Amino acid sequence: MKGILLCGGSGTRLLPLTRVTNKHLLPVGNKPMVFYPLEKMKEAGINDILVITGTEHLGDIVSLLGSGSDYGVSFTYKVQDKPLGIAHAVSLGNRFIGNDDFVVILGDNIFEFDMKKLIDKFKSVGRSLIVLRKSKNPNRFGVARIVNNELEEIVEKPGEDISDFIVTGVYFYKPEIFKYFPRLTLSARGEYEISDLHNYLIKDKKLDYSIEESFWSDAGTLETYFEVNRKYGKL
Ligand code: DAU
Repeated sequence: MKGILLCGGSGTRLLPLTRVTNKHLLPVGNKPMVFYPLEKMKEAGINDILVITGTEHLGDIVSLLGSGSDYGVSFTYKVQDKPLGIAHAVSLGNRFIGNDDFVVILGDNIFEFDMKKLIDKFKSVGRSLIVLRKSKNPNRFGVARIVNNELEEIVEKPGEDISDFIVTGVYFYKPEIFKYFPRLTLSARGEYEISDLHNYLIKDKKLDYSIEESFWSDAGTLETYFEVNRKYGKL
């Protein structure tokens, strides 16, 4: 299996911290944010990793990560010229992935899910798989509507309460997903939404889910950035 680590986006919710550096290079505890999802890739046994990032701080990302030899992995880099969304960034991995199964992790997601267990589940269900988790503040995420244990729909940042189950930024995909990208259109916020891809997969019964309970947070707002630093900040 291969991996895609997403380090693009504009990081506007963390301004002015992100004015001179990439969000994923900011410290969380005693190391850069991106080390947390990277360690989860390694825990899953994934060593062949595509790093996708924007043009602005590309040099800083490469300075930190290099070839990957310091971390026991191999990095390939791809530039996302404009932050056109998570689905857009993933679509850039088409040639790198080829016919392999793969994992995508958002570079600002910090979590303690058991990756080996998730990979086993992904392999046993034989379809793409997203990881859900309960949240007290679901409406700022992609939210899953589940009826009779079936995934019905994902609603991105809903205006009304749908459920407490949010879609985390840990995605296990079959390579067949690449054929869906041409169907996606720009959302109201000017992005190609990963939730739109997931809804196409749901319609074709090609998406499964796993509900996890261990710690998960993004670190993309000042509030959550502070929270993860409080959790991981102890020496
Ligand atoms: O964290 C989980 C949530 O991430 C999901 O619940 C949502 O469904 C999903 O849309 C996403 O929501 P956000 O609005 O919080 O995503 P954000 O724009 O902050 O981007 C998250 C990561 O994706 C970020 O670490 C960098 C990467 N990214 C984002 C964009 C927009 C890219 O690599 N390229 C991009 O163009």
